[in-house]
Amino acid sequence: MTIQEAMRQRHTVRKYTDKPISGELVEKLNARIADNNQEHGLSLSLVTGNADGLGVLAKMLGSGIKNYIILAGPDRSDLDEKLGYCGADMILYAQTLGLNTWWVGGMFHAKGAQKNLDGAVRVNGVLAIGYGQTQGVPHRSKIAAEISSYNGSAPQWFLDGVDALLLAPTALNKQAFTVRGDKNRVSLTCGSGHFAGIDLGIGKYFFEAGAGKENFVWA
Ligand SMILES: Cc1cc2nc3c(=O)[nH]c(=O)nc-3n(C[C@H](O)[C@H](O)[C@H](O)COP(=O)(O)O)c2cc1C
Repeated sequence: MTIQEAMRQRHTVRKYTDKPISGELVEKLNARIADNNQEHGLSLSLVTGNADGLGVLAKMLGSGIKNYIILAGPDRSDLDEKLGYCGADMILYAQTLGLNTWWVGGMFHAKGAQKNLDGAVRVNGVLAIGYGQTQGVPHRSKIAAEISSYNGSAPQWFLDGVDALLLAPTALNKQAFTVRGDKNRVSLTCGSGHFAGIDLGIGKYFFEAGAGKENFVWA
């Protein structure tokens, strides 16, 4: 399964079976995490065998969660956008491995997650990961015209990028994206509020994966 196929098949899954993630897949996830951490200066980390990074509400709403990826990194102004971007890569990569995920950006337990990390880093969410009891369902979605515009006739890569963007998970499913294209330049904004930075990073990843990075530059 490609990342592009994974974008269509991925949906939030909150309830998991007790099937453990095999050692081989744990290794693959850890290798992908290491690449993301190195490239973006982050401290993502996979925890297996407990749900300490999940808050009480998440434990009530979900079930069977035994593994999660901590979204963390050194505190700096673009941390949330980078966590969004790399978290998007991880949920889609997990999907290509046959795993399901749940982005827990509000209902996580920072202290419980923090004890798995060294040094002074900020935790801003966790990704529950495992074998879902179901594959989830597509989210209710805005349409392309509500979030996008292009100066002139939009090329196919722009339309494909917007389609992909609409598949992205966002906090409370807000999809507060505004995407504008002009020749090969694209700007993306994502409203304001607590989750704006994370949602922006997720959106950038999905747009790039749909449009093809080689076709445009971020304005
Ligand atoms: C940044 C972020 C934070 C989220 N936080 C929570 C959360 O705390 N609790 C929850 O139940 N879902 C949370 N979600 C899941 C969203 O509700 C879900 O992604 C959205 O409804 C779209 O559905 P989909 O993931 O199936 O596409 C979060 C998603 C994102 C991207």
